[in-house]
Amino acid sequence: MREKIIETILNNQDEFISGEELSKQLGISRAAVWKHIKVLKEQGYNIESVNKKGYKLVKKPDDLLTYNNICHELDTNFMGRKIEHFDTICSTNDYAKSIASESLDGTIIISEEQTKGKGRLGRQWHSKISEGIWMSAILKPNISPYKAPFITLIAGASIVSALNKLGVNSQIKWPNDIIINNKKVAGILTELSAEIERINYIVLGIGINVKTMEFSQEISEIATSLYKENYRISRVDIVRSIIVEFERLYLDYINKGLKESTLKICREYSAIIGKEIYILQGDSKELVKCIDINDQGNLVIKDNSDKTREIMSGEVSI
Ligand code: BTN
Repeated sequence: MREKIIETILNNQDEFISGEELSKQLGISRAAVWKHIKVLKEQGYNIESVNKKGYKLVKKPDDLLTYNNICHELDTNFMGRKIEHFDTICSTNDYAKSIASESLDGTIIISEEQTKGKGRLGRQWHSKISEGIWMSAILKPNISPYKAPFITLIAGASIVSALNKLGVNSQIKWPNDIIINNKKVAGILTELSAEIERINYIVLGIGINVKTMEFSQEISEIATSLYKENYRISRVDIVRSIIVEFERLYLDYINKGLKESTLKICREYSAIIGKEIYILQGDSKELVKCIDINDQGNLVIKDNSDKTREIMSGEVSI
């Protein structure tokens, strides 16, 4: 309801809208309107209330990752047409999976905090309140399940492209880490529900450290945030930009079978092409030279017996 109130006030442009008009349009009592406005003010919305005139929105809390902040005048076909915003949640990926079957393609779940944020390989993902972007998108592409890993590359390309458009010098560490100055600033966790021939849904989880200044001891050497790297950018602008970039690359792939737009970004902003890297598989750690990302999105490497090999999944370290 609060989202609806904001939308109605926003649609009224710079004019006041009376409490009576709001209660009529939204089908709630004037007392309920007043209560919602009070909470919105507490959340940081600057709403001017003038006796006999009503309410006017002077300023939104710029940094809250709500539907209204993100999607006002956002020109996408399906990504983010529905956004569920939480103050706190266990994991946006877990919640997204629980509602995926009944949800629209492109639905986005965002929370200011996660109490059980998940990283890859069963790791924990620290997700403190309002320090980052903790979001998951529900996708229902009509493609074979074996094509799903490419969606992770699309996500990586859209994050790096969005960040670079906002002035951040970031790179992709194939397949799903975004790094700045050799430290991880964002990660992607893609989860799939599928049958042999078809995908039921994909939950694409994105975690971006934005304002975090202190990391726990185990990750302080390898993790960073945008603020730590002196990039003070609004979380809303980042999310908006990622949604737009993602939809463009995703539709290229799903509707036109085009991978080139994504691969171009993955190659151009690669943190590992041309470098010596470690391939981590289970307990083994192999030093190789990274040559390229091929047209399938796989990593092409040269091993220490000078043999060229293709790596389809896994983890790399620099
Ligand atoms: C990784 O690099 O290990 C992947 C991290 C993914 C974290 C995001 S935060 C939003 C979404 N919900 C989760 O529980 N995890 C992902």
